[in-house]
Amino acid sequence: MNILLIGNGGREHALAWRIAQSPQCTRLYIAPGNPGTAQAGENIPVQPENAEAIIAAAKQYKIELVVIGPEDPLADGLADKVRAAGILCFGPSADGARIEADKAFAKELMRSAAIPTAEGRIFHSLESARDYVLSREHGVVVKAAGLAKGKGVFVCREPHQAIRPLEQIMTEKIFGAAGNTVIIEEMLFGQEASILALCDGRSIYALEACQDHKPVGDGDTGPNTGGMGAYCPTPIVTPAVMDHVEREVLVPIIDAMNRSFGRYEGCLYAGIMLTPAGPKVLEFNARFGDPETQPLMMRLKSDLVEVMVATCRHRLDEVTLEWDPRPAVCVVMASGGYPDKYAKGFEITGIAEAEALGDVKVFHAGTALQGGKLVNFGGRVLGVTALGETIAAAQKRAYEAVVKIHWEGCFYRHDIGSKAIR
Ligand code: AMP
Ligand code: GLY
Repeated sequence: MNILLIGNGGREHALAWRIAQSPQCTRLYIAPGNPGTAQAGENIPVQPENAEAIIAAAKQYKIELVVIGPEDPLADGLADKVRAAGILCFGPSADGARIEADKAFAKELMRSAAIPTAEGRIFHSLESARDYVLSREHGVVVKAAGLAKGKGVFVCREPHQAIRPLEQIMTEKIFGAAGNTVIIEEMLFGQEASILALCDGRSIYALEACQDHKPVGDGDTGPNTGGMGAYCPTPIVTPAVMDHVEREVLVPIIDAMNRSFGRYEGCLYAGIMLTPAGPKVLEFNARFGDPETQPLMMRLKSDLVEVMVATCRHRLDEVTLEWDPRPAVCVVMASGGYPDKYAKGFEITGIAEAEALGDVKVFHAGTALQGGKLVNFGGRVLGVTALGETIAAAQKRAYEAVVKIHWEGCFYRHDIGSKAIR
């Protein structure tokens, strides 16, 4: 079948790489893609926010399956439009994507289904939000309710530290309308895990658990980013924890969504904090995680197209996923200055040398071709992903690969996976 993948990040390169390996994939198109996805299929210059152009391209290229990577087109209802055009679509409806695009809605839904999550209050005005944080004695977490590319969350150890982010979000509108509403949560403590599950509206199939590294600096310091690296599987999610999360989080949230608006079809991502009082939800995303998808795809042995088609056809109960038993570690290399301003256009060297080490795949995210040269073009630029017999071995191999790659100003965290290595 011909397949159209929407997006241009590291997640999409990892998905494209696996989709292209499927015997069921005749031709793969990526809209708009990046220089990495161009190695797996054909990039087409159609923007994800232009639904009409996506549908037209899907018809032109005789597409039978559309896979939507990022959250923005999902929240805008692209999946609804693709399905209305009679094409299979992997990705939830706009209603389903609200679980990510509207954190206030997600909080209410979790509350209604008694899903364990941080206590949180919803505010629409700066004054009431400010009064509230000043009445708190312990740390708080301020979250813009809308989509903010993973940067809309501020963890404030002291309540007064929340004032400045509230002003930035609600008055200065650094995230635009995404900051019209904020959630203020109690601060939770513990290790974090990303639990992704395929959902076909009836069944749920949890993927192997990952751990992301959101803060920009080593030792989880500095502001939050979209994710500076991830590894899979993570030993902190034991079979008992996974059972618990499936029972107390995934099943009830899918039920709650079914009751509230109908079937959720696609990948559901639960960001979980393993607190002393048990697993609690930090957030839901309506899509595969980035960078979690990179180590997941490195390990997935099953035919991804078959799995996605089964999900779209509500036949997930017939699927069994096979994984490479070896762990995978993905180190994100970013442009100097990210997650703030950064300079673009520096030539990237060393990718071939990194991949020549073996068991290494370098996924492109923010790259571009300029005058025949590969250059950095976004904040998160590459996801250097390696397999190893142990997490320590995969980590070692990933960093051996990272040091072979260079462009002016590039940086990365040095401790991706370290929480799993003692
Ligand atoms: P989110 O995008 O909601 O997952 O938040 C981004 C990051 O902020 C999470 O990965 C956590 O590290 C942190 N965070 C979010 N909510 C809380 C919370 N209630 N307590 C402590 N840390 C949090
Ligand atoms: N890695 C976090 C996210 O995909 O939102």
